[in-house]
Amino acid sequence: MGNLRSREPDFGERKVSVSTDYAIETDELVKVYDTGTRALDAISFSVEGGELFGLLGPNGAGKTTAIRILATLLRPTSGRGRVAGFDVAREPREVRRRLGLAMQTPTLDAFSTGRETLELAGRLHRMRGEEIRRRADELLEMMALGGVAGKLTGTYSGGMKRRLDLAAALMHRPEVLILDEPTEGLDPQSRTALWEELERISQAGTTMLLTTHYMEEADRLCSRLAIIDNGQIVVEGEPEALKQGISAETVVLQIERNGSADEVADVRRLLEGMVSAEDVVDHPAGVSLSVANAGLAIPGLLRRLDGNGVQVTGLQMSRPSLDDVFMKYTGRRIREEAADQPIIMGW
Ligand SMILES: Nc1ncnc2c1ncn2[C@@H]1O[C@H](COP(=O)(O)OP(=O)(O)OP(=O)(O)O)[C@@H](O)[C@H]1O
Ligand SMILES: [Mg+2]
Repeated sequence: MGNLRSREPDFGERKVSVSTDYAIETDELVKVYDTGTRALDAISFSVEGGELFGLLGPNGAGKTTAIRILATLLRPTSGRGRVAGFDVAREPREVRRRLGLAMQTPTLDAFSTGRETLELAGRLHRMRGEEIRRRADELLEMMALGGVAGKLTGTYSGGMKRRLDLAAALMHRPEVLILDEPTEGLDPQSRTALWEELERISQAGTTMLLTTHYMEEADRLCSRLAIIDNGQIVVEGEPEALKQGISAETVVLQIERNGSADEVADVRRLLEGMVSAEDVVDHPAGVSLSVANAGLAIPGLLRRLDGNGVQVTGLQMSRPSLDDVFMKYTGRRIREEAADQPIIMGW
């Protein structure tokens, strides 16, 4: 399918789009804001129909900018974007008709009820009265909001607001659903509930593009993802394949503070010849090492450290995560919190 991608550079002034196999397509999208910030630096990616595609990246990476361009809310400085076969700059109305959108911060009217919010969304999409009522009932039920449908959205919890916003985006049965940080700010329980909902929507055949800075979210939900940083795509692929590309495990050592000013430098020096210097980095819980065949290597590492007066009081070993993938390509962590896992083995 991929090789059918249309690469004709110019669609001229033709009103009717040439359809491609892709539900979403961006081609060298650039956005430079008036302030001079280059938020997108020529990003290109394609999403096939039915896929759940993720843009994973840290704050300020350019995720919302990309979403706003695809949703026809912002014009790109250069490059092209297509949604459901239509050009976002030239055919914004066709795009909007086929697109459901939930932005990073839900924009609900606090003085409308849940049901009124959905009815308004239906009217904006020129749906008929009967159909609006039926679809609103169906979505309220699906999002477990039936019991609060008559309450003002201002009284809703964060999770309920997110689910209502998602329901509003789904009112007109869009072909493509775009979600900007759908679970940001939610507690773990609400996040898991929303993930299950998103999985159901995806399984029902809707193409989805979501942005997130939560790597476990991208890992769990996305069939494919692109890691974005500083307005550029650093790597793209299936989550499993990306993680398998990292041959080493991460070992976090909790070290008894021995008054040393620089534990990382100490460990680097002591493990010279066993672990290369760039694979020893700081970690909120101590020192993090990237080690091939960690299970076999750990006893030797511990003996070396112990023999040189460095007391290891806890150790955690983990399989590569998307954060490690991000680290490999950018030299940084997506977020501190990503590395902030508890030390599970202490002695
Ligand atoms: N309206 C604007 N005017 C000027 N600069 C902007 C504007 N919106 C965003 N930026 C800048 O563009 C860059 C990308 O921002 P964007 O909001 O797209 O990132 P993001 O990946 O969505 O980040 P977050 O994870 O915080 O939501 C940032 O440097 C940001 O400060
Ligand atoms: Mg954003």
